[in-house]
Amino acid sequence: MDKLKILIIDDDKFDRMNYRHILEKNTDFLAEVLEADSSSKGIQLAEEEAVDCILLDYQLPDMDGIHIARAIRRKNTEPLAIIMLTGRGNENIAATAIKEGVSDYIVKNELNSRLLITSIINNVNKCQLEKQIKRNRDLEEKNRIAAEQYYLKNELLENVSHELRTPLNVIMGFTNLLFDGTLGSINEDQKSALNNILSSSAQLLELITNVINITEMDSYRVTFTAEKTDVSKLIFSIVDIVKSAAISKNIQITSDIEKNFPTVYIDPFHFTQVLKNYLSNAIKFTTEPGYIIIRIKSESATTFRLEVEDNGIGIKPEDINKLFGLFQQLDASTTKKYGGIGLGLALVKRIVEMQGGEVGVTSLFGKGSVFYATFKKI
Ligand SMILES: Nc1ncnc2c1ncn2[C@@H]1O[C@H](COP(=O)(O)OP(=O)(O)OP(=O)(O)O)[C@@H](O)[C@H]1O
Ligand SMILES: [Mg+2]
Repeated sequence: MDKLKILIIDDDKFDRMNYRHILEKNTDFLAEVLEADSSSKGIQLAEEEAVDCILLDYQLPDMDGIHIARAIRRKNTEPLAIIMLTGRGNENIAATAIKEGVSDYIVKNELNSRLLITSIINNVNKCQLEKQIKRNRDLEEKNRIAAEQYYLKNELLENVSHELRTPLNVIMGFTNLLFDGTLGSINEDQKSALNNILSSSAQLLELITNVINITEMDSYRVTFTAEKTDVSKLIFSIVDIVKSAAISKNIQITSDIEKNFPTVYIDPFHFTQVLKNYLSNAIKFTTEPGYIIIRIKSESATTFRLEVEDNGIGIKPEDINKLFGLFQQLDASTTKKYGGIGLGLALVKRIVEMQGGEVGVTSLFGKGSVFYATFKKI
């Protein structure tokens, strides 16, 4: 047992000496003994000192032990061992004292060192257990409130993101019609302006989609639906989404799909999220003129690998392990320049790992990076 701080409240000097002697001689625990010879001093010390146990005389001149115990309890809400000592072995007093929060009751003329030490140990242990239970209960309550707030925030974030996505899709749809010339011919300057609108909108759409996806994953509402998929076609359509951003940075995107690569069964929506995030990063962190290569190759009879290579800024070896964590952005100056909130790779990791695959990167700082993800073919 740790060192115990014990307060003796007794007006009788010889009783106090006797208790102190027993406490200091015992070998079960170290005792720091405090003494109070009056009720007021006792109540004050009980409040000021973090005592573990109080030995309380029943009969003090100005106040009886029950009232003292009541006053101490009122000021001290934590469980505290109070052992009452009295000359009168009266059961009624004992019952009332226990009701007032006294932990134990010892008749003075029956007192011996074993009885006193055992009572202290038992009651201090009991209080420590009660404190632990109270702490656990408080913690559980805090966790419950935090979980509830987290859920509500998630819900709000998801709702707002959904509401943002709808008008943004309309903006992008009409801008595309203008850009393609469907709504009439446009000159080169107008085309370049529309391309800027499209690439910024695509960036915004990706951010919103990432937020929606991560909130869905956090609330375990995500499902994966595998469909028979022609990966080349899918990649082509994904490149189409990000191409305006690549064009405005003079970056070439090419794809290199293994010869005779079979039709696979994947979740096209989530595959798109992965590739879109890799591509948008590759575009973001590559200076013009640059290149990006998308590679698809079989890994085994049942798995394949997606790679996105760029010749961009690269990543320092010491930063590699941080990349796929939530809200990890390596360089404040580049991220300020390019935007984003550090959600993309964390989302990619979740999407891929939830389907049994793995993600990773190899990179040469200043030269470029290759990000990869593995998927099941069937
Ligand atoms: N191709 C890359 N080349 C160099 N650094 C990269 C590359 N891809 C990611 N990083 C680094 O990893 C960080 C995390 O990427 P992540 O996609 O998670 O966030 P983000 O792109 O900054 O923001 P968001 O994806 O939420 O828009 C980036 O901020 C960047 O520092
Ligand atoms: Mg990103």
